[in-house]
Amino acid sequence: MARRRQLYEGKAKILFEGPEPGTLVQYFKDDATAFNAQKKGTITGKGVLNNRISEFLMTKLGEINIPTHFIRRLNMREQLIKEVEIIPVEVVVRNIAAGSMTQRLGIPEGTRLPRSIIEFYYKNDALNDPMVAEEHITAFGWATPPDMDDIVHLTLRINDFLSGLFLGVGITLVDFKVEFGRLYENEDMRIVLADEISPDNCRLWDSKTNEKMDKDRFRRDLGKIEEAYQEVARRLGILPEAGLRDMKGPEMMQ
Ligand code: TMP
Repeated sequence: MARRRQLYEGKAKILFEGPEPGTLVQYFKDDATAFNAQKKGTITGKGVLNNRISEFLMTKLGEINIPTHFIRRLNMREQLIKEVEIIPVEVVVRNIAAGSMTQRLGIPEGTRLPRSIIEFYYKNDALNDPMVAEEHITAFGWATPPDMDDIVHLTLRINDFLSGLFLGVGITLVDFKVEFGRLYENEDMRIVLADEISPDNCRLWDSKTNEKMDKDRFRRDLGKIEEAYQEVARRLGILPEAGLRDMKGPEMMQ
């Protein structure tokens, strides 16, 4: 394969120039970070699993007409995506109290919230992704009020759909983070779901035992991280056929 130009390297993924204008290749690494990269590690096979899980979830969301950046999976660690202008806001939806909400508001972990709550964080590592209000987002021009209407509407639909999908395989969707981008096509601009949806950016608990099946196992040193990610893929019916032995996937091609 021809050498490709690397455009961006993040904590868990690398973006390369795509084969055609308007496309990018998103490569999923095994690297894991937490607490704004103060904690670093490797979760063997995570990139392969997240590539597959994100493909599956974005495809399912596409089937209910949620626009996404996803085009198709290319191989074990890479997917072809549409190039979008990322809106620098992390959108978090919470159904059950966990993580930073328990600390910020003193609500015990596991408390079902009276309704789903959406929070916004400004994507800025130097500032540690501070929580912001919609007022900041629109006043500083990170997104317009109509963009925010689309984002909130899409996020609630994503939450409803994914909550049901996970419940169907015995998993409670506690909370998750999504990112959106602006997709320019002809004269039009559309807000589309971007980035990834995987156990790296969701809290997923076993519905019966409440056992954690997501990146909190890494954040909190709970062990059995690889097994948890694999179990999520297994329940979704998408564990790569070769199973664990092949989790390393092909070497990165540049
Ligand atoms: P929090 O409870 O730490 O605020 O996290 C809420 C959700 O967002 C949780 O599912 C993990 C996810 N998340 C990310 O994907 N990236 C991040 O940088 C953070 C802080 C959280």
